[in-house]
Amino acid sequence: MISLGLDDLAAVQTLEQRAHPLPASNAVLRDCLRQYQCWGLRDNAQLLAFIIWQQGPFELQIFNIAVDPEQRRRGLARRLLGHAAEYAQAQQLDSVFLEVRRSNAAAISLYDACGFHEVGCRRAYYPQSERGGAEDALLMARPIF
Ligand SMILES: CC(C)(COP(=O)(O)OP(=O)(O)OC[C@H]1O[C@@H](n2cnc3c(N)ncnc32)[C@H](O)[C@@H]1OP(=O)(O)O)[C@@H](O)C(=O)NCCC(=O)NCCS
Repeated sequence: MISLGLDDLAAVQTLEQRAHPLPASNAVLRDCLRQYQCWGLRDNAQLLAFIIWQQGPFELQIFNIAVDPEQRRRGLARRLLGHAAEYAQAQQLDSVFLEVRRSNAAAISLYDACGFHEVGCRRAYYPQSERGGAEDALLMARPIF
């Protein structure tokens, strides 16, 4: 597990483009690397997966998690979420929290498998495509004991 910073921007952008159907913009990723905690898993020079989170007073909020399409179902996302939970525990936070598109079945299965539960919904929160429309965000949380 390595900490990522602005020096890793190009690698994070490349992985974001490969991983997400509607990737975050380069400007958003730059801001994330500046302001938030970003952690990654690497094989030699190649970035395989990353997670980005912000620490609040009581909870850790995950903004993004992405795994290279060729590296999926090898437990990389589970490792990154485990790292987030360990960090939250060390900081004595109450929970880890995130938002996910209702249609993102793979991510919802991952979060279920990692102890997250649905705690709410933001209606029409995400843009659905460049042509318009909107999709609900499910709010999911995992308590930290
Ligand atoms: C969602 C994502 C991060 C999962 O990464 P991953 O490294 O493949 O996940 P893991 O290998 O750690 O999977 C752990 C468990 O999650 C569940 N899971 C993960 N991907 C799944 C899928 N496509 N279908 C069903 N269950 C899945 C399984 O229970 C899996 O355990 P198993 O492989 O023993 O069955 C990855 O598919 C991805 O990058 N998607 C695009 C980006 C994205 O949607 N990010 C989430 C934004 S909220």
